Amino acid sequence: MKKNFIPECISVGVLSERTGVSVSALHFYERKGLIKSQRNASNHRQYPKQVIRIVSIIQVAQRTGFSLEEILLELQVLPNHTRITLEDWEALGIRWQDELDRKIAQLTELKNMMTDCIGCGCLSLERCKLLNPYDELGKKGAGPRLMTP
Ligand code: FES
Repeated sequence: MKKNFIPECISVGVLSERTGVSVSALHFYERKGLIKSQRNASNHRQYPKQVIRIVSIIQVAQRTGFSLEEILLELQVLPNHTRITLEDWEALGIRWQDELDRKIAQLTELKNMMTDCIGCGCLSLERCKLLNPYDELGKKGAGPRLMTP
């Protein structure tokens, strides 16, 4: 057997070895519905080899700041959740790039707002843009908006 040969179905150990993701993390992904296995005759989990690519995509997405819930939503809209094609990966990349641009813009805005807070410490609902951005609470009316009945 060639060294790089991958059989159609692989164990969780092989999947871990191939992806660098711990067995416990792979089981966690499975509980979250990100990857799927089937039991063989010996009742051991077996993953289709395409799962290696899915786990790699999960790793990339997590490194770029996406939550597992966001990743799951993206994977679920792919035509075939168990086999990700090059076209699927390109489409995902474009969507994630747009989302990253949005997050970067949001974080840059927060960073700029924080400039006013440095050395202040007032945490005023009227003045602090971090605590009450765009006076969102003021739009809801007068009075103590953060108090619960
Ligand atoms: S803490 Fe004073 S403006 Fe934010």
